[in-house]
Amino acid sequence: MHALPDVTSDILRVSPLEQSETIPSCWYTDQRFHDFEKDAIFLCTWQYVGVESQVPNAGDYILATVAGNPIIVVRSKEGVVQAFYNVCRHRGGPLAIEESGHVRVLQCKYHGWTYCLDGSLRGVPRFDRTELFDKKDYGLVPVEVCSWQGLLFVRLVDGSVALETLMGGIPERIAPQQLNKLKFCRRVEYEILCNWKTYVDNYLEGYHIPLVHPELCKMLDYRAYTTELHRHYSLQYSPFRDPEGNNIYGAADGEAYYYFVFPNIMLNILPGRLQVNSVIPVQPNRCRVVFDYYYSDITSPEALRMIADDMKFSDEVQQEDIEICEHVQRGLASRGYDRGRFSAECEQGVYHFQSMLKDTYREVLTQSRTIV
Ligand code: FES
Ligand SMILES: [Fe+2]
Repeated sequence: MHALPDVTSDILRVSPLEQSETIPSCWYTDQRFHDFEKDAIFLCTWQYVGVESQVPNAGDYILATVAGNPIIVVRSKEGVVQAFYNVCRHRGGPLAIEESGHVRVLQCKYHGWTYCLDGSLRGVPRFDRTELFDKKDYGLVPVEVCSWQGLLFVRLVDGSVALETLMGGIPERIAPQQLNKLKFCRRVEYEILCNWKTYVDNYLEGYHIPLVHPELCKMLDYRAYTTELHRHYSLQYSPFRDPEGNNIYGAADGEAYYYFVFPNIMLNILPGRLQVNSVIPVQPNRCRVVFDYYYSDITSPEALRMIADDMKFSDEVQQEDIEICEHVQRGLASRGYDRGRFSAECEQGVYHFQSMLKDTYREVLTQSRTIV
């Protein structure tokens, strides 16, 4: 399907962490790898799009873009959350343009074809003289959508594990926290001049915390920072403390869970708070990172103050990560770097992610998995 330069079986072999090299730098910089990953990874995996509570009533919708494809998620008359390509079957116009809203029917913004909320084609103006045309053949193209803990995910091409399997074990591990009890507060987006994997790699280790995030370092119990590897995700876990009145989300000492779910979802969980990050490839050297904030309380004055503090602190940490990731991207693109090594103590998460990447590359390149 794609010609990739220099991807030898040697490079795709997963060696033990202690002996492994990082993936080659061209995977982070070359357009051919970017194109390959779009098909091999992003079409076939569950992609986070939002939360059920954003579409509480029939006709409520949200838009998303998944692997470059415009998607609309809409609640049907029967109360079921459905997803379709946001693409009219006439000549490709959009059914909705605003990021979210409410509609009685889905009407194309180009020539006005209308579709019922179940995707079936309803109204076709001035089509009486068109022959051999049956509206039944021109419903919206459905997309698989699934809810986990109230969070919504879509998958454009079948072939990966079920969403429940992907997330297996997380609800039990974070109990008594229940993510579906939290309320959506706000979305913040960042455009970053680095490959999506540069950002993910950076997320997956605490090794950089002392140098890149000195303030955060004071709050996390760095010595107790651990990484757990699971089949489809990894967990970085740290008790956090409240030295000099500093705090994270106003909470006293507690536990922070940082889940990374392959390929690009992060669930950052503190008591009463969830931040979902989704890392979206844009170009080989550019990605967009979505931060969705959820809290147990989004109305009381006390909660609003803590939320403001939390968002401000998250943004400060994010700016530190952006700056280092953009430097790293330039380093990866330079003639002075190709492959590096892992700290066996601190970079298990990065190694785990890169091993999953290699597995995916190998499956697709050896055609043990085909993408339709
Ligand atoms: S493209 Fe939708 S009505 Fe023409
Ligand atoms: Fe960081």
